[in-house]
Amino acid sequence: MQVIIFDDAQQVAENAAEWVAELVNKKSAPVLGLATGSTPISLYQQLVNKHQLGQLSFKNTTSFNLDEYLGIAADNAQSYRHFMNENLFDHVDIDKTKTFLPTCNQGENPREQGLAYEEKIKQANGVDLQILGIGANGHIGFNEPTSSLASRTRIKTLTQQTLTDNSRLFDEHEFQPTLAMTMGIATILDARYVLLMATGANKAQAVKDMVAGPLSAMCPASALQMHENAIILLDKAAASELEDQDYYQWANNQNIKINQEFGLYHNY
Ligand code: PGA
Repeated sequence: MQVIIFDDAQQVAENAAEWVAELVNKKSAPVLGLATGSTPISLYQQLVNKHQLGQLSFKNTTSFNLDEYLGIAADNAQSYRHFMNENLFDHVDIDKTKTFLPTCNQGENPREQGLAYEEKIKQANGVDLQILGIGANGHIGFNEPTSSLASRTRIKTLTQQTLTDNSRLFDEHEFQPTLAMTMGIATILDARYVLLMATGANKAQAVKDMVAGPLSAMCPASALQMHENAIILLDKAAASELEDQDYYQWANNQNIKINQEFGLYHNY
């Protein structure tokens, strides 16, 4: 894992945007894995800015989102499709027919839908760079604690903590789904690079469990310890429970020097 600690959330977003821009500018048919939630919003703002400045085009990009609620129509303001349109897709030149979410509409079989999503990712030649947030309970996507580390795209029941964490986004009488479709942990681990962003003190314990804790289904993000190219971007608050902060800072400075000498190595 490459753990990089920044002063604040803005710097996390700026750095994440650099990673995305690197891929999208470099590869002829880039495949991005995208995430929803509060954390990546500032990343998407950075990407929109870059696009508006003429520095970044998503014309040839395909995207796969991590998750989507079950039983919520695409035009519902709570759907993750709506979130992605609002925060990114409507403001850049991406071809929306090449933007995918793991949906399961009324009458569809979630098991078949999960398999079909896996197949679609395969047909696109896999995800190059997967953006991730982390839940306060250590989830990635909607892979809640106890999710199989070998899981694939499927239907999941959300935990009470996730429902409570996300209830801030729903009006008092609004329907809040308790089921979702989500890429599995093994699906996420298949991405060539994973870029996890975490900001704020409420993520500090989950970040510690992910980076330094045992590999455990109780902290699904700890599965990233098994990934060859996992980059963890943190602000100081999210890093505050890590014991080896000085080491991560120092190692990152060394990496910058190594990259300056030998060039960036991105195996996209
Ligand atoms: P957040 O959610 O960015 O809204 O904190 C992250 C997550 O649950 O993965």
